[in-house]
Amino acid sequence: MANKIRKAVFPAAGLGTRFLPATKSSPKEMLPLVDKPLIQYAVEEAVASGIESILIITGRDKSAIENHFDISFELEQLLKERGKDEMFAQVRAVSDIAKISYTRQKQALGLGHAIYQAKDFAGNEPFAALLADDIVDSEKPALKQMIEVFEKYNAPVIATMQVDGEAISRFGVIDADEVEPGVYKINDMVEKPAYADAPSDLAIIGRYIFTPDIFEAIEQTTPGSGGEIQITDAMRLLLKKRPFYAVKLEGTRHDAGDKLGFLIATVELALKREDLGDEFRNYLKSLDLNA
Ligand code: UTP
Repeated sequence: MANKIRKAVFPAAGLGTRFLPATKSSPKEMLPLVDKPLIQYAVEEAVASGIESILIITGRDKSAIENHFDISFELEQLLKERGKDEMFAQVRAVSDIAKISYTRQKQALGLGHAIYQAKDFAGNEPFAALLADDIVDSEKPALKQMIEVFEKYNAPVIATMQVDGEAISRFGVIDADEVEPGVYKINDMVEKPAYADAPSDLAIIGRYIFTPDIFEAIEQTTPGSGGEIQITDAMRLLLKKRPFYAVKLEGTRHDAGDKLGFLIATVELALKREDLGDEFRNYLKSLDLNA
């Protein structure tokens, strides 16, 4: 099996119910943090991690994603005519970012089912999967941190982050042994455990490196409630047959598919911006938060 991660899959066919009504007819993945859609952050992370080829799994009402990464002829023409060279370059860079192809998940039958749509794309190679609503703000790109672990152990790697206290119950949680600082060999995973039952404080977040045997595991996974095939169930099946690793990511993770998480991510990223940060910080300071 090849040991280089060249391909990445972006499941983006979910219904985004946590962000209604905004997601009624537009994709959650196109929600902007400051001025960039969520999916562009994730695609940029993948490219910065060495990914060469991308497959986005879309569904109905998701054509805005394809348009975003395509050439926008009229817009480019207009910007050129008006001498807006910098904006032109910015817009063109989005369509030049990577080799991107698309496939449809005809029904939102769960993340496992969405990833299964990438079977032909992945072929015989290990590949990454990134959920665009998990934004990881880190010095070294999150996926790069994972690829380094994959290259060392030659086994699937999932991303985790430390979550303190009761909030751990909202995540999939790993039961694992640390094999070197920040790297774990997984024994088991539990979906949304009660705080008292959580096997660790390491929550699974939306970045994975899979080997092609994940597809067979998905085929063997029994659908859960609503006919959905959960990727965690497929990973648990595979865990019985092969080693699986986790990395504790360095950086800050934002759940931008959730309204509060989205607001927090917007504020934090805006404050870091050279062009907006100072003015925005002054505005926030001027607010009477006790009102
Ligand atoms: P979420 O659990 O965030 O589900 O999916 P969702 O449907 O998008 O959003 P909510 O929870 O209803 O608000 C995690 C990721 O898996 C994709 C989603 O697009 C998201 O990136 N997904 C989920 C699919 O592609 N297909 C599915 O059937 C389910």
